[in-house]
Amino acid sequence: MRLEGKRAVVTGAARGIGRAIALKLAQEGADVVIGDLLTEQLEETAEMIRALGRKCEAVKTNIAEKEEAERLCQKAITAFGGLEILVNVAGINRDTMLHKMTDEQWDLVLKVNLTGTMYTTRYAGTYMREKGYGRIVNIASASWLGNVGQANYAASKAGVVGLTKTAARELARKGVTANAICPGFVDTDMTRGVPEKVWNTMMEKIPAGRAGKPEEVAAVVAFLASEEAGYVNGEVINVGGGFVL
Ligand code: NAI
Repeated sequence: MRLEGKRAVVTGAARGIGRAIALKLAQEGADVVIGDLLTEQLEETAEMIRALGRKCEAVKTNIAEKEEAERLCQKAITAFGGLEILVNVAGINRDTMLHKMTDEQWDLVLKVNLTGTMYTTRYAGTYMREKGYGRIVNIASASWLGNVGQANYAASKAGVVGLTKTAARELARKGVTANAICPGFVDTDMTRGVPEKVWNTMMEKIPAGRAGKPEEVAAVVAFLASEEAGYVNGEVINVGGGFVL
């Protein structure tokens, strides 16, 4: 129970990696505010957290809207009395080759993945620096190094890395850490959408020979969100079974 008494916000927690993270934080003792666009699945996650004996508030949130992103973070403060942990997981892809990419595909992915992450990081980071303690974990991607068909997604995740490293430097003396995790290829709704051929190629490229599980990302988040990780700051941690682009 490394997170006993801590209050956390997790975005994108209706399913996949976000749900696994929210559950893991709750298993470690945290009360959790969860936000997502998918209200039914979000409520399912909330019920799973409450079944673990922890408090949970589910808030329908479009992370790309500043007021909604800020309201999500504020909920932990009003409902639970504080906020020590922020995990940004909400993310989308609109994969296509750059020469076919529309302005709308570019703008949407940047707005959700990068600007949305900035809104919560800025709001929660400001609160945490005043309180003198906090843990921010942002889910980037191995694709931040560049990937065919993912110019928008790679740019957004490279932006998340830059944002995280900057927050880490700015907040370090205020007791707040910020780190990024780069999952490689994790078995979720996002990756199940890829054609079978692409899936099989990925399995060949991953030294572990299999896709990751959401719980394997959540385990690393739980460590970074804990007090004992206080001297780990501004890191980019790959969780990809040995896969790096
Ligand atoms: P997913 O698609 O299953 O989950 C993403 C969640 O974010 C969904 O519940 C979705 O409703 C929510 N979301 C999307 N747009 C939102 C918005 N505007 N406001 C609030 N919530 C929103 O995908 P998965 O795989 O669980 O991905 C989670 C994160 O991990 C994403 O940031 C993704 O980019 C990242 N990631 C995933 C990898 C994988 O292999 N699955 C690899 C590397 C990174």
